[in-house]
Amino acid sequence: MSASDALVAAARAAREHAVADFSGFKVGAALECADGTIITGCNIENASYGLTMCAERVAIFKALSEGHREFTGIVVVAGTESPTPPCGACRQIIWEFCGDVPVIVANTRTVTAELRMADLLPLPFDKRLL
Ligand code: THU
Repeated sequence: MSASDALVAAARAAREHAVADFSGFKVGAALECADGTIITGCNIENASYGLTMCAERVAIFKALSEGHREFTGIVVVAGTESPTPPCGACRQIIWEFCGDVPVIVANTRTVTAELRMADLLPLPFDKRLL
């Protein structure tokens, strides 16, 4: 199993924990840390819909809170046939903490897209502007 196979498998497993009672749209994410550690996340919805947190951000915030600071890639898994790329808020957060990493998008069966953050967020607002 390659490193990216393991990452995809971890994101699929994380998706099973999604708390998506309102949308029914379950998402899993797996973040690869520079030391090889894999940190996962799932979407967590709330009756106050705006408080919902995406899978990608859960994974990144978990990783940061556990001391990880360098990341080499992220996988996002949804249940859709066409690719489900990270939402705008997640693109900003991924860029901030991971930079121009590969973003692999998959569903429960196959990889649907292999992207890069610089293409997903071509003119970013970031600390270089502050
Ligand atoms: N969602 C994610 O977890 N990641 C994304 O990048 C897109 C959207 C979740 C949020 C919400 O729980 C559900 O998918 C429908 O928007």
